[in-house]
Amino acid sequence: MVSVILPAAGRGKRMQAGVNKVFLSLLGKPILYHTLRAFAAVPEVGELIVVTGKDEVAALRRSLQHLPGLPAVKVVTGGSERQYSVWNGLEASSADADVVLVHDAARPLVSRKTIEDVIAAAKEYGAAIAAVPEKNTVKIVEDGVVVSTPERAKLWAVQTPQGFQRSLLMAANEKAEKDSFLGTDDASLVEHYGAKVHVVMDSYQNIKITTPEDLVVAEAFLRQKRSLHDTMQDAAAKVHDFLHGKD
Ligand code: CTP
Ligand code: MG
Repeated sequence: MVSVILPAAGRGKRMQAGVNKVFLSLLGKPILYHTLRAFAAVPEVGELIVVTGKDEVAALRRSLQHLPGLPAVKVVTGGSERQYSVWNGLEASSADADVVLVHDAARPLVSRKTIEDVIAAAKEYGAAIAAVPEKNTVKIVEDGVVVSTPERAKLWAVQTPQGFQRSLLMAANEKAEKDSFLGTDDASLVEHYGAKVHVVMDSYQNIKITTPEDLVVAEAFLRQKRSLHDTMQDAAAKVHDFLHGKD
């Protein structure tokens, strides 16, 4: 059985909406609802745990009952850092779960394929993360000055879900707590203690809604019923006309 932990206890500072961004609406439904629906559609998923702010737990439990098409969802209290929120989710997860997925509640566009690929890789390798090859050139900068330019071909932008054998993620979190080690994602804890993390190719569509611009992009993706391939083909069909001066 697979247990899914959805950290949703952030403050959404960069969104500047004055509320927890995961409750903001996309096409009339909260971001968190879209995310829950994506995981609820995967048969292997047996448990959904949302970790949210202390003051939001009771209201969220009530609100979830009014949303259509959702299975039972556990709601627990988060911590001051994402890592502590995930830890609370882990403690609430069933011991029957062999694999645990951690997924940012703020990524509502995750595909069924990505979820299933990460589950399969976590089962096979013990630890797996969804990621995409970096499109931009990335530089290391200190005090406003470029220090170096890492080779782009080796850079991957890491997303979620990240999947782990439950015992491995629990052990890494326990050790990190003792050592006061704070990672920027879940895999970094597992890496820190020497385990290998397998990378699963994700889609560029699986964005994390972070700033107001991301709401526009996410709604456009949600509205888009056609495949990206068809959109690209239509755009390509106009190139000849443009270059030959036709309308
Ligand atoms: N998160 C969490 N507990 C925290 C911090 C973050 O559960 N203490 C969750 C967020 O709710 C989000 C995910 O982790 O779903 C990714 O974090 P991020 O995008 O940074 O969200 P926020 O922390 O809310 O945003 P900001 O950093 O702009 O304040
Ligand atoms: Mg944050």
